[in-house]
Amino acid sequence: MPKIKTQYLDAKKTGIARATEILREGGLVAFPTETVYGLGADARNGQAVAKIFAAKGRPQFNPLIVHVANLEMARKYADFNDDAERLAAAFWPGAMTLVLPLNPAGGLAELVSAGLKTVGLRVPAHPAAQRLLQAYGGPIAAPSANTSGKISPTRVGHVLADLNGKIEAVLDDGPCEVGVESSIVGFENGPVMLRHGGIPDEALEACLGQSLARPEKTKMLTAPGQMDSHYAPRAFLRLNAVDRRDGELRLGFGAHDLCDLNLSASGDLIEAAANLFAHLHHLDAMDGEAIAVAPIPHSGIGAAINDRLKRAAAPRP
Ligand code: TXA
Ligand code: MG
Repeated sequence: MPKIKTQYLDAKKTGIARATEILREGGLVAFPTETVYGLGADARNGQAVAKIFAAKGRPQFNPLIVHVANLEMARKYADFNDDAERLAAAFWPGAMTLVLPLNPAGGLAELVSAGLKTVGLRVPAHPAAQRLLQAYGGPIAAPSANTSGKISPTRVGHVLADLNGKIEAVLDDGPCEVGVESSIVGFENGPVMLRHGGIPDEALEACLGQSLARPEKTKMLTAPGQMDSHYAPRAFLRLNAVDRRDGELRLGFGAHDLCDLNLSASGDLIEAAANLFAHLHHLDAMDGEAIAVAPIPHSGIGAAINDRLKRAAAPRP
């Protein structure tokens, strides 16, 4: 792909206005959300959406999440059932994506949903994402702003290190607060947990008043967040490591962990999620052969952290 000049835009200055111009012209803009940075394009413009796949080197069949400013806009693109309404009322804006039957009259590019009859929708809470979506007034398709299979970006520096010269612009508004991607809920005769994420399963289930089913393996999409190997650093990852072996770097958790980087010295899972991808980026740049990762509790957002770690440690394709 020919190199283009990637513009740096500051969300605190005139970045939002410039970002909307670029989107309108069919360009790609990486922008912050509270989970991770997204790589955005106008979701109605098939050519712009195709550029996302090219920049990420992503297999064409993977559907993208469509970001909208609010529930009212989301209703234009999909049919909401009662459970979806309940979840949206409780967790939007926020770190949750709903996969719902696509409304074909909504005008989304077909490539966005990769030919499926469903669409993933999300209303992000991040103030810069909200300002961008409101200023733009249209739907923005955005996967995480990283090369397919690599660690997701939670800082503008991560995006630039990976995609500089491949996208029109990055909109900077500092580090992402949540640090792991959104929870994804779909519906197959009732709510189904498609991806553990920023909203703990327990909170989603409390809102629904029922437990979330797991998707049938055979029916599961071959999609990045659902592939075994994903979020892969260069170094080999050893999980649930209670010690550090020769030549290993250590990613710790909790007090008294003698480590290179600690996800949370106070043992706070929310802090650990926010640090996860940044620490993996950092350790990977230290050129060790392996990273020993401390055991992480499974409760709350710990489920999402352990899911991402398991995929980062999985054998590479
Ligand atoms: O937090 C997030 O969700 C971030 C920010 C940028 O919003 N986005 C993100 O996108 O993680 P991405 O593309 O890296 O992961 C989206 C996941 C994929 O696993 C994809 O398969 C799934 O969402 N997905 C999207 N639309 C879907 C659909 N119609 N049916 C099933 N899965 C879908
Ligand atoms: Mg991703």
